[in-house]
Amino acid sequence: MQQQLLSLRRRQLCLAAAACVGPHAFAQPAASGYETVPRSADGIGKAFMGREIAGVMGWQGAAWLEREERERQERSDLLLRELRLAPGMQVADVGAGTGYHARRIARLVAPGGTVQAVDVQPQMLEQLQARARREGVDNIVPVLASERDARLAPASLDLALLVDVYHELEYPVEVMAGVVRALRPGGRVVLVEYRAEDPAVPIKSLHKMSEAQIRREMAVHPLVHERTANVLPWQHIVVFVRRD
Ligand SMILES: C[S@@+](CC[C@H](N)C(=O)[O-])C[C@H]1O[C@@H](n2cnc3c(N)ncnc32)[C@H](O)[C@@H]1O
Repeated sequence: MQQQLLSLRRRQLCLAAAACVGPHAFAQPAASGYETVPRSADGIGKAFMGREIAGVMGWQGAAWLEREERERQERSDLLLRELRLAPGMQVADVGAGTGYHARRIARLVAPGGTVQAVDVQPQMLEQLQARARREGVDNIVPVLASERDARLAPASLDLALLVDVYHELEYPVEVMAGVVRALRPGGRVVLVEYRAEDPAVPIKSLHKMSEAQIRREMAVHPLVHERTANVLPWQHIVVFVRRD
């Protein structure tokens, strides 16, 4: 009886936190839904829904984001097509890094549209601004975020894009709650992550995510899965719409 009550209590805690799926389920469910797990080489020793969160990619590695072969490896032209951008749109590139996507999106939403380029590392935002200046792109607004908050105004965005970022958010629930609040009715969140289902994708495992895991984690937010586009060589494009 005691055992049953304990198990029921644990289940209630987990449901409240919506965080009890995956191999670490019930290991150490905290009220937040995060668990402490043994730290792996690329991780931070903290898990959400059975997934260890990856360490943040440091600004010292920024050149990798702008590598010449990236276009061939990741085909951002196909990604941009899937985003269905139009002049005038308000977009946030969350975890923008050097602005590889923000700079391309900014050109496609002009005139009238703006890209808020959000990052926690000021060095990334400095590099992004320098590149945008050199390329004559003037509709990007840099936003220095905190680990828990992307600092976006409520109901201000048509689209929030996270490319290769979600898996390294230290506080994924808090950050995404703010991102979803920042969407206008009908606004979309697009997560682009390296496909964990595909062993041929040459990226470390903590820096990949399966589509199922992405959808499980997004289910704690007021979002509806719209579609998944598997048109890129290495990544999924998973599109969600704000549920009103
Ligand atoms: C692997 S890089 C990807 C950069 C860019 N999206 C791209 O594809 O070129 C991940 C970026 O996310 C940023 N980041 C990590 N945690 C963040 C958070 N909580 N809020 C905003 N940015 C974050 C990192 O500083 C880093 O610039």
